[in-house]
Amino acid sequence: MKPAHKLLFVLCPMLVLGFIYYSSGKLHLHVWGQKPHKGVEPTVKVSKVTSVSVKTTVKTTVTKEPVVEGPVSVGRIVGSGTASLQRVHSGQHENPSRPEFDKQGFLLNLDTKLPPELVYKYGNLSEGSCKPGYAAAKMSAIYPKFNKPASMFLDRNFKRLAKVTNYLPPFGFKTQERIIDVILSTTKKYGLGPDLDSLSCKRCIIVGNGGILSNKSLGSRIDEYDVVIRLNEAPVSGYTRDVGTKTTLRITYPEGAIQKTERYEKDSLFVFSAFKPLDFKWLRQMVFKEKLLTFPVLFPTVQIYQGTEGFWKSVAHFVPRQPSEIRILNPYFIQEAAFQFIGLPQNNGLMGKGNIPTLGTVAITMALHNCDEVAVAGFGYDMNTPHAPLHYYETVKMSAIKESWTHNISKEKEFLRKLVKANIITDLTNGI
Ligand SMILES: *[C@@H]1O[C@H](CO)[C@@H](O)[C@H](O)[C@H]1NC(C)=O
Ligand SMILES: *[C@@H]1O[C@H](CO)[C@@H](O)[C@H](O)[C@H]1NC(C)=O
Ligand SMILES: *[C@@H]1O[C@H](CO)[C@@H](O)[C@H](O)[C@H]1NC(C)=O
Repeated sequence: MKPAHKLLFVLCPMLVLGFIYYSSGKLHLHVWGQKPHKGVEPTVKVSKVTSVSVKTTVKTTVTKEPVVEGPVSVGRIVGSGTASLQRVHSGQHENPSRPEFDKQGFLLNLDTKLPPELVYKYGNLSEGSCKPGYAAAKMSAIYPKFNKPASMFLDRNFKRLAKVTNYLPPFGFKTQERIIDVILSTTKKYGLGPDLDSLSCKRCIIVGNGGILSNKSLGSRIDEYDVVIRLNEAPVSGYTRDVGTKTTLRITYPEGAIQKTERYEKDSLFVFSAFKPLDFKWLRQMVFKEKLLTFPVLFPTVQIYQGTEGFWKSVAHFVPRQPSEIRILNPYFIQEAAFQFIGLPQNNGLMGKGNIPTLGTVAITMALHNCDEVAVAGFGYDMNTPHAPLHYYETVKMSAIKESWTHNISKEKEFLRKLVKANIITDLTNGI
C-alpha cells in the first residue's frame, strides 16, 4: 500500500508535467507551425523553445527573469514563424488568384479589363469620344500606388511640393528655389491656357522623334489631339504629312532646344525640363533675354556660355518666346519615372550612371497625371534594322545609337511596354 502511494505520488506530478510538456508543445506547434510544411527549421526551433519554457515553469512558480526570457526567445521564433507563413502565402501553394506584383509594383498580369464602375461610367459615351479619367483609372488598376494629382508645371506655390523639395535636379529643385521664384514671378502663367485648362476631357499625344514616324502619314491623326507634345528640336515644317502641324507644348532641355529662331512655331508653349542646376541659369537668361556677355570679371553674376561650357553640346542663345509662353515642367515626373515606374538606381537621389529617364518617358509620365487619354507616336528603336533612320528628321542611322551613360533604354522599354499592354497608352506607330 505505502509503496504504491509513493509511486502514485511520484507518478502524478510526472504525468502532469508530461501533459503540460505535451500540450504546450502541441499548442506551440499549432500556433507557429500551422502546416508543418517545408518549415522544418522553424519546427525544430519551436520545440527547443517549448522545452525552455517548460523548464522555467518547472523550476519556479513566478519569478520574473525566466518569464522575461521566455517571451523574448518566443518573439524571435514567432518572427521567423510568420516569415515562413508569409512565404507560404506568397508562394504557389495557397490562393493562386491573389494578385501578384512585380518589383516596381505593377500587376504581373496586365491583361486587366476596365473596372466595372468605369464600364458603367463610359457605357453611354458615343463611340470614339474622350473618356474622362481613363488613363489614370487604368494606371491605378495595374499600379495601385498611382496617385493622380501632380501639376504639369511649377507655379508660385512650388515650394509646397513635398516630393521634390528635397531632391537636387533633375529629381527635384533643391538649391534652385530662388532662381525659380524669379523666373516664375516673370512668366506669371502656370497652366495650358484657358481653353485647354477648361476642357472636361483632354486627349494628349506625345510625338517621339523616332524614324518609325516616317512615311506613315499620321499627321492628320496627330492633329486631332487636344494637346500635342513635341520634344526638343524635332521639326514640324517639312514633315507635316507624317508628324502633323499642331504643337501645344515643346518640352526641352538647353542642349535640345531649337537653335534657329525661325524654326520655333507660333502658339506653342516652351516647356523647360531641367536636368542639372546650370540649366536653370540658362532658363533665366532665356526668360530675361540677357545678352551673352564676355566679361565675367566685370559682370560676375552673369553666366557666360561659350560653346559647350557646362553643357554637353552647344545650346540656344536666344529663345523667341515671351515670358508668358514659358513654363517649367514639374521635376516630379523625372523622379517618378526613374525611381518608381522604371526602377532605375536611386544613387541617393543624385544623377548617376543609367538613372535618368529619357525626355519622352518623362513626357508620358506627365501625361498620365494630366491627360484623360494618352497616345504616343514615334517611340521605340528597332535594333533589328540598323540601317533605318534613328530620327524622322535626320539621316543618322539606328546603328549610331551608342550605349548611353545616362539612360537605360531597355529598362525604360519594359515600363513603356506595360503601359501599352495594359491599354493605358495607345501607340500609333507600334514601336514600343
Ligand atoms: C446611361 O444611360 C442610361 C439610360 O439613358 C441611364 O439610366 C444611366 O444613368 C446612364 N449612365 C450614366 C453613367 O450616365
Ligand atoms: C519615305 O519615303 C521616301 C519617298 O518615297 C523615301 O525616299 C524614304 O526612304 C522613305 N523613308 C523611310 C524611312 O522609309
Ligand atoms: C540597365 O539595367 C539593367 C538591369 O537593371 C542593368 O543590368 C544594366 O547594366 C543597366 N544599364 C545601364 C546602362 O545602366
